[in-house]
Amino acid sequence: MSVKLFHNCRIDTPLDTGTPAGGRAQGKISHFSNGALLVENGLICRIGEEKEVLANFQTDTITREIDCQSRCMIPGFVDPHTHICFAKRRESEFEMRIAGTPYLEILKQGGGILSSVKAVEAATEDELYENSLKHALTALSFGTTTLEIKSGYGLDTENELKMLAAIDRAAKTTPQDVVATFLGAHAIPPRYKDNPDGFINHIIDEMLPAVRDQNIAQHCDIFCEKGVFTIDQGRRLLRAAKDCGMQVKIHADEVHDLGGAALAAELGAISADHLLAASDENIIKMAQAGVVANLLPATAYSLRKPYARARRMIDSNLPVALATDCNPGSSYTESMPFIIGLAVLNMNMSPAEALTASTLNSAYAIGKAETTGSLEPGKLADFLLLDGNSPAILAYHAGANPVAEVYKRGEKVV
Ligand code: NIG
Ligand code: FE
Repeated sequence: MSVKLFHNCRIDTPLDTGTPAGGRAQGKISHFSNGALLVENGLICRIGEEKEVLANFQTDTITREIDCQSRCMIPGFVDPHTHICFAKRRESEFEMRIAGTPYLEILKQGGGILSSVKAVEAATEDELYENSLKHALTALSFGTTTLEIKSGYGLDTENELKMLAAIDRAAKTTPQDVVATFLGAHAIPPRYKDNPDGFINHIIDEMLPAVRDQNIAQHCDIFCEKGVFTIDQGRRLLRAAKDCGMQVKIHADEVHDLGGAALAAELGAISADHLLAASDENIIKMAQAGVVANLLPATAYSLRKPYARARRMIDSNLPVALATDCNPGSSYTESMPFIIGLAVLNMNMSPAEALTASTLNSAYAIGKAETTGSLEPGKLADFLLLDGNSPAILAYHAGANPVAEVYKRGEKVV
């Protein structure tokens, strides 16, 4: 039996009340100035001020004591939206974008997501596995202890399953916990160019059952956008996914306000993601339906678009989560500290709200809050030691990595 005592640290953590934290609760962080954490076999058994943690505790059962050197301890980050399973970067498209070609125009010309589809088709499962693992480990160095990885550059059964198999192998190799999402409806493949409804039928009839048979993805997602999939197509696919027991997510209102947020509310999606163009009315619908707003500020940054209206969402009692959206096109970063910096400085979230968004609420956004997302007895001892006096360092020390040490299940992994 291993019993570890981490002490001499300041601890900041959101508290899990059984639902994602919205409104005022999103900015409530529990704080211990002379904190300690007791970990038994990878699980948190006590947390608080050191004196209280050690009161009535048989200290001779402690097998290791770790001095945290006055660093700030926070929960490990949960990144609830990534596309890190890809074969090749798209540097030349980045150059086209910064020279003025719009993101959706590149896709329309057969590039964008479709260039990643060609690269995945040509890649082996081994190559996809290695690339996924490499990006996951970079994320780990920035403090991501749990992450979601989507398929979606396959667009046919064989290549979607190849991606999901690569993700599954990466999940088994990395110390992080990984949740996989099936995103077969990420773009319309050229063979269905004039028949997107036919492609949705094909996903429902063939791809989805194949993914379910292998039990290899927890969520089903779709990109609803002008020139990609409509809200009706989203409804059809996601209803079918729910019928076979999957949780659903939507790439919603990223560029145009199509009503993806309203669809997420109607279906009781676990999250709706992007939401740069979501309307006030649909923000309220999401809040009432208990959907988490998963915001991806590095995408707005990279596409040079106005940011999602996090303030309006939080003030409407809609719980906000944050994610990198790490992908070779619209947002290429593995760094949650960078995301937190954008959220604090460009979306007017407080450091406390951003911390809740990147830990507890993001754990809810991928169905992982039972085991992670906050530092509380019974949850995994997934935590970070920051090189700074408070979580504000994450936004303050721009472009750097303020994450000094990363612990997963009580073991130091970085
Ligand atoms: O979340 N918007 C759609 N999908 C991704 C981008 C994928 C890509 O460009 O490769 C996103 O931004
Ligand atoms: Fe995405």
